Amino acid sequence: MSISIKGRSLLTLKDYSPEEIRYLLDLSHQVKKEHKVGKFNQRFLGKTIALIFEKRSTRTRCAFETAFGEEGGYPVFLSIDDLQLGKKESIEDTARVLGRMFNAIQFRGFSQKTVEVLAEYSGVPVYNGLTDAYHPTQILADLMTVEEEFGCLKGRKICFVGDGRNNVANSLMIGCAKMGVHFTTLAPKALYPEQGLVDQSRVFAERSGAEIHVSSDIDGAMDGVDAVYTDVWVSMGEEDKLKERVTLLTPFRVTQELMEKTHRKESIFLHCLPAVKGNEVTFDVIEGPSSRVFDEAENRKHTIKALMVATL
Ligand code: CP
Ligand code: NVA
Repeated sequence: MSISIKGRSLLTLKDYSPEEIRYLLDLSHQVKKEHKVGKFNQRFLGKTIALIFEKRSTRTRCAFETAFGEEGGYPVFLSIDDLQLGKKESIEDTARVLGRMFNAIQFRGFSQKTVEVLAEYSGVPVYNGLTDAYHPTQILADLMTVEEEFGCLKGRKICFVGDGRNNVANSLMIGCAKMGVHFTTLAPKALYPEQGLVDQSRVFAERSGAEIHVSSDIDGAMDGVDAVYTDVWVSMGEEDKLKERVTLLTPFRVTQELMEKTHRKESIFLHCLPAVKGNEVTFDVIEGPSSRVFDEAENRKHTIKALMVATL
């Protein structure tokens, strides 16, 4: 079956079939190999992308800018202070203007609705570079990293530990469910993902054979896990919740002792970064031999390049 996703946006991985995600991951491995040997194909020559950021970013911005630029494209960074987006101009109008000038748009910000409106009105591919709800491009890099480590995805086990209802946890559940990766959210009950998302992910998982669990039982959830994944305890925009999160999440800190509960020497540690070392993960784990966080960060660039090659 030949797959084409030309012209498509990526707002959430819910909209992508397992075959389309497979296609993106295969292309990611290919562009990474090309990058390693210095082969650039000028695939974005004469093209432009608007990179809109309402929230800060290191990896996502740099991945989009460098991936697009080294293939001959022209990325334009637009912070929220530079644009009228939703302030003096409606998002719909801004989208229609940007759609006349750019070949694609990346949006990072608060509301999932904003990225949906940009996609609906711009007429060009729009990529969700993180909203309060989802972080789909991150998960492509995570899946790629797991695949590099273990050679395959199907039947592997990932456990996300911590704020089980954040954007990364949500998207990871969807991505694993689609790709046949057994997935557990390990979190205190107050931070469980929305039941609607869990139900939807279980429907995706029926097709792939994945099992989707939500639990607060640390020993049970960690047993046999291939990749232990965590993220910050307070996401961007939730800084006022730090105190309550420290209380809720301290028992769920990823320590060496917690890693050992996987009972697997070859288990790896993943984190989307940036990390608050000493909070969600101890220094020895993130800096230790199981950590793959910088491969994962590098893979942001290759997966984002693959996404743009496939859709532009
Ligand atoms: N993981 C990630 O999205 O990093 P940035 O916030 O630096 O883009
Ligand atoms: N959950 C984090 C992810 C950062 C990449 C946040 O939204 O701040």
